[in-house]
Amino acid sequence: MIPFMDLDLQYKSIQEEIDEAIFRVIKNYNFINGPEVALFEKKFAEMQEVKYCVGCSSGTSALHLAYEVVGIRPGDEVIVPTMTFIATAEALRQVGAKPVFIDISPVSYNIDENKIEAAITDKTKAIVAVHLHGNPCEMDRIVEIAKKYNLKLIEDCAQSHISEYKFKKTGTFGDIAAFSFYPGKNLGAYGDAGAVVTNNRRYFENARMLANHGRKEKYYHDVEGYNYRLDTLQAAILLIKMKYLQQWTEQRILNSQLYDKMLKNPDITLPERSQYKKHVYHIYSISTKQREKIITALKENHISYGIHYPLPLHLQPAYRHLGYKDGDFPVAEALSKEFLSLPMYAELTKEQIEFIGNVVKILL
Ligand SMILES: Cc1ncc(COP(=O)(O)O)c(C=O)c1O
Repeated sequence: MIPFMDLDLQYKSIQEEIDEAIFRVIKNYNFINGPEVALFEKKFAEMQEVKYCVGCSSGTSALHLAYEVVGIRPGDEVIVPTMTFIATAEALRQVGAKPVFIDISPVSYNIDENKIEAAITDKTKAIVAVHLHGNPCEMDRIVEIAKKYNLKLIEDCAQSHISEYKFKKTGTFGDIAAFSFYPGKNLGAYGDAGAVVTNNRRYFENARMLANHGRKEKYYHDVEGYNYRLDTLQAAILLIKMKYLQQWTEQRILNSQLYDKMLKNPDITLPERSQYKKHVYHIYSISTKQREKIITALKENHISYGIHYPLPLHLQPAYRHLGYKDGDFPVAEALSKEFLSLPMYAELTKEQIEFIGNVVKILL
């Protein structure tokens, strides 16, 4: 059996440090806003090459805070790729804004930067760039459009820890960015966790205050906020895992190169490779019209797989009220039937990748 990801193997490789960190927090009874939270925020900001970081309770709460502090308000329209996890659009509901979906590029699988301008109206307030699967969006063009139309730019970096576009970290191109540390992410906690990062001091201070019940001082509240704080236990775990992220990411990249070699075939489209993008392979997704056949073979050989994602957001029942229909976004619709994500993690062995590659190719 080859799992889709193997958190057990990862834990075993760093067990002593993790166990020590967890018991330290328990012994100190400093569960809320303990010292590990501030230390994690400082180190994560350094790693992402950004000035400020606010630890949050999840990637979804981080997105909500990001949307609120940049000033997205009820009635505003926000441009979002239709191929993403629902949280990107769902968090807009928290600020009363409307998602306006856009098709994706058949090459990068990210928002198609050439289709953004046509969707801008006088209600448009912001663009959300989601670095899907860990592959950076075309940020030069997206930044240019945001500037031209005076729109806020939010980056959803839930899948793109330490990825780079033209040697600059994703999360540093827009006004603000949101990260997720959901357990299966490249940097994953042992429960829900997330963060907001920004170079804007005002956004940082507002996000910090809103995440902690709208207060700067205990029992004195400037505004109504939320309980969106990062848990101290999760911060302690993340501080340990962070030390290995670079190494784990390099291994993911090496694994992707071996997959690419194994899967070279006219029936398979491989993930984008670009000289100026550092893709961090949160997901290694091929696209193929032979998906059903390949899935049958993977199942027979006890190899786990995923589909990211099987239904674009504009066709989800949750967004029926927006009036989109089949055929509106043909690239995303076609890819949702062709995407196939293969196992991807640092501990995956060369033999396992070769085995998976042979199982996939034998049928084609
Ligand atoms: C692109 C994207 N955005 C947002 C989220 C939401 O993050 P979380 O699950 O931590 O709330 C996720 C992950 O789950 C994601 O993949």
